Amino acid sequence: PQRVFSGIQPSGGLTLGNYLGALKRFATAQDAGIQTIYCMVDLHAITVWQDPENLRRATRELAAGFLASGIDPTRSILFNQSQVSAHAELAWVFNCVARMGWLQRMTQFKDKAGKNSQNASVGLFAYPALMAADIMAYHATHVPVGEDQKQHLELTRDIAIKFNNDFGVDFFPIVEPVIEGAATRVMSLRDGTKKMSKSDPSDQSRINLTDNADTISTKIRKARTDAEPLPESLEGLDGRAEARNLVNIYAALADLTPAQVLAQYGGQGFGAFKPALADLAVDKLSPISAEMTRFMQDPAEIDRILGDGADRADAIASPILDQTYDIVGLLRSR
Ligand code: TYM
Repeated sequence: PQRVFSGIQPSGGLTLGNYLGALKRFATAQDAGIQTIYCMVDLHAITVWQDPENLRRATRELAAGFLASGIDPTRSILFNQSQVSAHAELAWVFNCVARMGWLQRMTQFKDKAGKNSQNASVGLFAYPALMAADIMAYHATHVPVGEDQKQHLELTRDIAIKFNNDFGVDFFPIVEPVIEGAATRVMSLRDGTKKMSKSDPSDQSRINLTDNADTISTKIRKARTDAEPLPESLEGLDGRAEARNLVNIYAALADLTPAQVLAQYGGQGFGAFKPALADLAVDKLSPISAEMTRFMQDPAEIDRILGDGADRADAIASPILDQTYDIVGLLRSR
């Protein structure tokens, strides 16, 4: 049977990239009746320093984002990583399976550590082993993510394969990355070659899930584009990164394919397309931001949901961790 696992870091706010690349698709998997486990990865967040009060607030706000995006905590398991100790424990075992050379190749580490990588935390380096542990602690088979997480999921597969080989078992499944849909890589509104990101210094480059209707409209209206009308077919988007990005965003928001969007808007200029996209974005995102605000008014209820989710997550992960320790030869006598 399929079991879906995915995670989001509670650092900074949620962007349209997180919504279209992850949250919206998380809700789709849940609604398809698959077992779904979704995690706020607070242990990943602290690989770079976080203000403690702010981290707690961001974790609750992220939970509100999940709930507002249609994650139902009775049908999905929704929890924060640090409340289930199997993540950190299994990560240690995986630290001993993964090779330095594998981690050194990770582009996210190179990007985040920057030039002075000697000064990066050991946690930032070992980050992908913790991510593998998140997934393997549930024997998850499918992991919906955006394009930027592909390399980490390949590493997860390598760790599972090496563990199984090292101990002569067929224990950890080889996960399938699920990188599907029109918006697996939402780009900056200011530069079509850069990923939309919460860490971009320009707020104009992204749409935040907490932006109000006016802000969303203005950002889309001011998004960088070329001067040509939209093409009639997909090949016409080659070499037009900004145009492609807006078409992809429209498609993902409207549950259409990019080709269907072009069938409707091909030949029209951005003077017509941008207002249509702005209306669509406001239409789809405003209810989410309103729901987030509503959920944030009851932090105790959020904490209750995450606590209940952690209990249910722990019930799955604990036996898998015990079996792992057993396979590795760690003595268990109580
Ligand atoms: P994070 O927190 O950076 O992002 C969460 C999810 O949002 C996707 N995403 C995007 N998708 C499309 N376009 C964008 N511009 C965009 N920006 C972000 C990401 O691909 C991701 O799916 N390492 C992970 C968190 C993690 C995880 C896991 C994921 C930890 N353990 C286990 C899956 C399974 C991360 O930092 O995502």
